Amino acid sequence: MVEANPAMDLGVCYYPEHWPEERWATDAQMMAELGLTTVRIGEFAWSRIEPDAGRLEWNWLDRAIETLHAAGLKIILGTPTATPPKWLADQMPDMVALDRQGRPRGFGSRRHYCFSHKGYREEAARITRAVAKRYGEHPAITGWQTDNEFGCHDTVQSFSAAARGAFREWLAARYEDIAALNEAWGNVFWSMEYRSFGEIELPNLTVTEANPAHWLAFRRFSSDQVVSFNKAQVEILRELSPGRDVMHNAMGFYTGYDHHDLAADLDVLGWDSYPLGFLEQFRFSDEEKRKYARQGHPDIAAFHHDLYRGCAKGGRWSVLEQQPGPVNWARHNPAPLPGMVRLWSLEALAHGAELVSYFRWRQFPKAQEQMHAGLLRPDGEPAPAFGEVAQVAEELGSLKLAGEATKHAALVFSYPSEWITQIQPQGEGCSASWAAFACYSALRKLGLNVDIVSPEASLDGYALVVIPCEPIVSEGFSARLAEFSGQIVIGPRSGSRGEDFAIPANLAPGRLGELVGGKVVRSESLSPLVIHQGDGWRIAKWLDHLEGDAQPEFTAEDGAIACWKHGPVRYCATWPEGAIVDRLIEQAAKDSGLPSERMREGYRRRTRGNHRFDFDYLSVSVDIEDI
Ligand code: GAL
Repeated sequence: MVEANPAMDLGVCYYPEHWPEERWATDAQMMAELGLTTVRIGEFAWSRIEPDAGRLEWNWLDRAIETLHAAGLKIILGTPTATPPKWLADQMPDMVALDRQGRPRGFGSRRHYCFSHKGYREEAARITRAVAKRYGEHPAITGWQTDNEFGCHDTVQSFSAAARGAFREWLAARYEDIAALNEAWGNVFWSMEYRSFGEIELPNLTVTEANPAHWLAFRRFSSDQVVSFNKAQVEILRELSPGRDVMHNAMGFYTGYDHHDLAADLDVLGWDSYPLGFLEQFRFSDEEKRKYARQGHPDIAAFHHDLYRGCAKGGRWSVLEQQPGPVNWARHNPAPLPGMVRLWSLEALAHGAELVSYFRWRQFPKAQEQMHAGLLRPDGEPAPAFGEVAQVAEELGSLKLAGEATKHAALVFSYPSEWITQIQPQGEGCSASWAAFACYSALRKLGLNVDIVSPEASLDGYALVVIPCEPIVSEGFSARLAEFSGQIVIGPRSGSRGEDFAIPANLAPGRLGELVGGKVVRSESLSPLVIHQGDGWRIAKWLDHLEGDAQPEFTAEDGAIACWKHGPVRYCATWPEGAIVDRLIEQAAKDSGLPSERMREGYRRRTRGNHRFDFDYLSVSVDIEDI
């Protein structure tokens, strides 16, 4: 039996149902010998747990759990609701989601359900209850994972009859009176006024874009459906399996539901870290893709560590899936450089993870993910990551971590901000979440610790707050900013919308006007052909024109103003990406008195308590020092 490591647990995702039972004990023993303490199982096993409606087959899972338990492993058990079996899909054909074009998302992969379907919700609760009743008090079960990756394969929004009915109820509860909704959304425009909530359709299949307020309501509703779906499972698990951590695994660069809301019901927020897949799949430059093809961009993993730590209640988070080799789902699927699996693991530790769980134990030779690496090859022999995990396990054993991470900068991000920039980008590529990533990267290049926090979070203890793009600003948030005594950087579109997407009467930045020292009298987005050149930086994509007391700080050669300053507050009037944001944040960090230091290319740092971790993504090395 392996001792639980105080610094961080290591684990693996395992699918006993994929392998002959005779192999299970060998696998369990190999896991324990490797230094793993935790195994995550069960999240896709519904068709084996319940092969036919009502016929529950527990014996195999009992034996699998006993085998893992006998090897001293702690188990995180998944509720299998991401993969409803065929008999269930046939029994309730309307339980599937409809896509934006109204087409059913059929059986034959996973996540083929609509969050609003009441019958499916009952089934999900029934199977959760059955599994929790069977294993809830088992000593090996230390945690639960609800479902798997809500939203994966673009599954949060559904345009089904079930979703439409639930949306109407949601709207009635929010606005109470149809006249209030018409007024808030501005439905007088284009004669879009409704006489009752029952007349409101989903915002798809309109001739041109639907009202942005309609879309925002639908995004909020869709997010709430995920949150309540999850909550129903959490309540069952808490009742039948007291004292265990309930968690869910979030994804990378995914904003389809509000993770702050979801995490409020969980003990631990997990996320699934695939740095090479994300580099290939998302909007990184060709140069970054070339340079970091086998490492991943140096901010990808850390950004999500810091984001999800900030979402998690009490800051408890884990990596529930860690890439161990090539994946199967990106445009290109290279292997990580030797040492990267170790680097990613130690970086998670530096950012405060409780667990890193590798995905998966053994590459499965069949079905959709047959090209996805595991810690073992399909033939059961170690794959390259195996040895690195052994090394990490050993290193963790000798690390004595104490103390909390020092607070440097807070980066404010909310999910509705991204929904707003998706619904109404106004200029191509102007996304709040990518602005957040760029600002995060700018802070990290200065070697600073960053907490990514919701606008509702306390700002105590930080010397610098960066708000990349926060269109809706609550009274509470603006009050906290007014009281904040450090440096503040505020990005474009901040304070530019009310709760229902209207432009504020006093214009942007609305409630932040006094702080910024001016108002935005005109906003324009710029084609890539229009660039205002500055000294080593440029105004691109967006330009807000300000009137007021604030003073220009960064002015382009042609007189266009990229950044305004008003006391300790900077307003970035262009899209906060690229050299301008690096410069502006560097200046603000200097003014804040933080110990900022320009890191060399590919180099990143985080301090945690009595240790300083330095990661070199180019030479693939990690340096851990006592401080
Ligand atoms: C995750 C998912 C896993 C597996 C993995 C492959 O998104 O949760 O079940 O599909 O990707 O990389």
